[in-house]
Amino acid sequence: MISLKNISKSFDGVKVLDDMNLDIEYGDTFVVMGKSGCGKSVTLKIILRLIFPDEGSIIIDGIDTTYFDEVAMMPVRQNIGMLFQGAALFDSMTVWQNLAYPLLEHSNLDDSEIDAKIAEMLSFVGLDGSQSKMPSELSGGMKKRVALARAMIDNPSYVFFDEPTTGLDPVTSGMINELIIRTRERFGVTSIVVTHDLASAMRIGTRFAFIDKGKIAFVGEKREMFESDNPGLREFLKDAEWQDRS
Ligand SMILES: Nc1ncnc2c1ncn2[C@@H]1O[C@H](COP(=O)(O)OP(=O)(O)OP(=O)(O)O)[C@@H](O)[C@H]1O
Ligand SMILES: [Mg+2]
Repeated sequence: MISLKNISKSFDGVKVLDDMNLDIEYGDTFVVMGKSGCGKSVTLKIILRLIFPDEGSIIIDGIDTTYFDEVAMMPVRQNIGMLFQGAALFDSMTVWQNLAYPLLEHSNLDDSEIDAKIAEMLSFVGLDGSQSKMPSELSGGMKKRVALARAMIDNPSYVFFDEPTTGLDPVTSGMINELIIRTRERFGVTSIVVTHDLASAMRIGTRFAFIDKGKIAFVGEKREMFESDNPGLREFLKDAEWQDRS
């Protein structure tokens, strides 16, 4: 389980997160929504401690990691697969090299075990035999699938997705949604998904949070979300519905 307790973070005097509290339970596919710039990516980066909070604490699996140094953070980060927003792969490396990278960093697997693990993960994401391709040869959806394979290759307990379907066409988005669901089913991972894409959120989420003015303005299940009277959330849902119909 991951808990954020009373997290605040400002950049250049502007408060992005303001006394935020958030609990992600094991097995959740926890969807974090909110307007552009509201602090969704910052929230993920604070959990990974790529950004240090000004106030508050981060508890991961019952351990307070807030003041962990870089060495202590290594196993914590290793246990969290990450799909960053936007370009996710090393462009100058083949698919094989991209996938081998976390294993060469952290594990003691020999070459044939690494090959087998890479083949297994590429098969899981439906890209058998793509080992020698360069990222520039892949479509946007294929890149996301390779990024998912890389995020999962070291058997993390958690995986964070930052805008996994943004910029993809509806068919490809649907494929990524199904893959995120299969990742939970097959590997039992707990996920946090940051997204603008309401259709994707509805398909994959088990719990939902909405960030507004630096705080969690809503957290709960799908039905509760549509019944919420939070004005920021209502506006967000209305705009999203409008986009879906256009
Ligand atoms: N490293 C940083 N230095 C300075 N400001 C930052 C930094 N990271 C984020 N910010 C600012 O914090 C705010 C929140 O950024 P964040 O990336 O979390 O937004 P977001 O909710 O993920 O938005 P989007 O939906 O557009 O990705 C923005 O105003 C951004 O400019
Ligand atoms: Mg973001």
